[in-house]
Amino acid sequence: MKILSNIKDYTVDIVTGFDEIKALIELEDPFFVVDQKVYNLYFHELFNKIPTKKLYLVDALETNKTIDTALLICEAMLGNPSKRNSRLISFGGGIIQDITGFAANILYRGIRWTFVPTTLLAACDSCIGGKTSLNYKSYKNLLGTFYPPESVLICPSFFNTLDEMDYNSGLGEVFKFNLMTGENGLINIEKDIAALLARDTKLLVGYIETSLAYKKSYIEEDEFDLGIRKHLNFAHTFGHAFETSSNFTIPHGTAVAMGIIMANRVSLSRGLIDKDFVVRSEKMLLQIIKHRNIESLICVDVFVDAIKKDKKQSGDGINAILMNKELQLIIVNDLKIEEIHEGLNILFEHLKG
Ligand SMILES: NC(=O)c1ccc[n+]([C@@H]2O[C@H](COP(=O)([O-])OP(=O)(O)OC[C@H]3O[C@@H](n4cnc5c(N)ncnc54)[C@H](O)[C@@H]3O)[C@@H](O)[C@H]2O)c1
Repeated sequence: MKILSNIKDYTVDIVTGFDEIKALIELEDPFFVVDQKVYNLYFHELFNKIPTKKLYLVDALETNKTIDTALLICEAMLGNPSKRNSRLISFGGGIIQDITGFAANILYRGIRWTFVPTTLLAACDSCIGGKTSLNYKSYKNLLGTFYPPESVLICPSFFNTLDEMDYNSGLGEVFKFNLMTGENGLINIEKDIAALLARDTKLLVGYIETSLAYKKSYIEEDEFDLGIRKHLNFAHTFGHAFETSSNFTIPHGTAVAMGIIMANRVSLSRGLIDKDFVVRSEKMLLQIIKHRNIESLICVDVFVDAIKKDKKQSGDGINAILMNKELQLIIVNDLKIEEIHEGLNILFEHLKG
């Protein structure tokens, strides 16, 4: 797949085994940044030949998604005979992608960068779109740029070692893309959910391709998030609040899955959407949300505050992306606090232990 970009066009390829990954690692020039956990898991199979002076390891923690880590990577690359045409290859999920994308963007005003997503979430969603985001103080994703990699190489074999929480988090974004397409997307999930939960690779590849194709249509039309791309934030207003108010113990894609339930409940109470679609969607989403008793994790006031402070908010009212009767996405800017409370209560009830 080729992604057209105003910055530079780039390619996304899906490979079935580790051969292409090994070939990438054996290249002479690159500097590697690898998620520490991924490095440990695949050391013997993939990474043992990388010399330490060409390697930087990062623990995939939100507290490491900072400008300091990005600068440390730049510094580590200076220790090598890196020139402006040097190349960075990174392996990991969205955290490693965000940090390395930012570093690749600022070093020499932009170096060559290849990203190998090792989480389902990064493969089906974040690897395209070119956003690099860093946390600053208590603000999530406050600093950032647009800088796409020159190539993305997806190898679904990596997903076999994801723990259930991280795998299901990836499914949260897969479900989001499908539900955004309306009834047909929901029917597909209902048909395939058992196989998706069983990590059927062939099926998963199909879902990654359709998720990326769906996102591609938005980012190519509105790369810099000024208009139609905002629709991709469906469920994210609530999702970011779940991440923040749970102190990031709820992972991104799971928070998005919870956010879909909230958004659909608001749509339902406004008479914008049919109950059948809401109930059937919830039945699917609740199979990938393993968290229970989240009311003990989440302070409602912090949750509401996080929605108000979300950096995507603009104007006086509270914005959210909702679905209407035709299952089309609409932006509203009059979300009420009572609607947030009502949605939360329904979700809390669903997730009772
Ligand atoms: N830039 C964007 O467009 C964009 C879009 C969506 C999300 N994000 C960001 O992505 C981050 C979340 O990323 P994520 O969900 O991909 O995960 P992650 O990078 O947070 O990693 C989750 C966990 O999975 C582990 N892991 C990674 N690959 C593994 C593998 N193959 N086997 C076993 N364990 C593995 C990591 O070590 C970590 O413990 C958030 O910071 C979010 O803000 C960015």
